[in-house]
Amino acid sequence: MLIKNGWVLTNRVEKKDVAIEGNTITELGKSLSGSEYIDASNHLVMPGLVNTHTHLAMTLLRGYADDVPLHEWLTEYIWPREMKLTPEDCYYGNLLGIVEMIRSGTTCFHDMYFHPDQAVKAVRDSGMRAVISCSLAEFGNRAHALDVLKTGLQFMKTIQNEPRIDTSFGPHSPLTCSPEYLLTVQDHARKLNKIVHIHLHEAADWIEKFSKSHGQTPIECLESSGFLGENVCAAHVVHATDKELDILKTHGVKVLHCPSSNLKLANGIAPVAKMIKKGVCVALGTDGAASNNTLDLFAEMRLMALLQKLHDPSAMTSGTAVKIATENGGSALKWNAGRIEKGFLADIILVDLKKACMTPGHDVLSNVVYAANSSAVDTVIIDGRIVMENGVLKTLHEDEIIEKAQEHAYDLVNR
Ligand code: NI
Repeated sequence: MLIKNGWVLTNRVEKKDVAIEGNTITELGKSLSGSEYIDASNHLVMPGLVNTHTHLAMTLLRGYADDVPLHEWLTEYIWPREMKLTPEDCYYGNLLGIVEMIRSGTTCFHDMYFHPDQAVKAVRDSGMRAVISCSLAEFGNRAHALDVLKTGLQFMKTIQNEPRIDTSFGPHSPLTCSPEYLLTVQDHARKLNKIVHIHLHEAADWIEKFSKSHGQTPIECLESSGFLGENVCAAHVVHATDKELDILKTHGVKVLHCPSSNLKLANGIAPVAKMIKKGVCVALGTDGAASNNTLDLFAEMRLMALLQKLHDPSAMTSGTAVKIATENGGSALKWNAGRIEKGFLADIILVDLKKACMTPGHDVLSNVVYAANSSAVDTVIIDGRIVMENGVLKTLHEDEIIEKAQEHAYDLVNR
């Protein structure tokens, strides 16, 4: 397949053709020939966006309990509903999220939620790419947590060598998992060459509570236990001292930045510009739709860049913001994706340059970060397959999914 006549985003934006064989980008150049092609005239051809932290089936709880403090939000609204989630709820919640993500140019996501087998099913059915975590939490019951880990390992075994799907370990956070348990999980992850997906330094009072009982902050504690490493994907890291950022950099920890969720739950603004300056790999995520409330990474990218400019307009360039949302996401999730380059996976989106929000085109990258919204996303290719063409989803029945998800969401909150 060829993508012809588009403005291709590599290190710069240039008019080129892109050749794809199977699921891989095989060539970039001028006037490539081939019989099967997409005409990308007047379109920006860019890497698909990578959502590195979400709880996808939480789409069912979108808008269910907003504008309340975190503790009340969790204990009175979210947790009681989550106790009643069925596998079928999760399946439709996942599909609803995937529809929204494809429409907003996301081609890969990293999930941590209940019934991960249903996320796998939704990914298989949609043609999406994903890393699905098995959720783990200890809550003071080591024996039970080790059983759940065993189940997680079996789950991982059932989906080895699947196209477009990888698995990761998802121990919830240092607050719900002891350092010893986390180290056991990390040992398995290292043996199996898997990612460990964890919430880290999200809320200031949680860090304080942990520090009081352990005599160290979570980041310091996880360093001294030997848990940190380049396979650790740490969601949030809103609060971190210079010393803690140096620790993350030294161990190659990836930070999964979720600015909307951090603001909505009043956790603060992560020092992303500083992280980048220090050489920490930062990628972008939406968190669950109950704490965002969209899964639109264009909105997230814009918010991220603007927040870093609070005191310095040059603190984050549009080029850096796009790199965080694409290439860094691919690196964090260990997929060879996030760049339009020979040998990379063909996860590509076409953005319509004739949309009002993309006009005029003085600086296309600037438009992508500060002006674009999901309505400009026209065509989406994942793993070399077209999943949306000219705004029409090719792999999913959108109306039916929206109807089913609505039914499951209403039923869930009234159950
Ligand atoms: Ni989260």
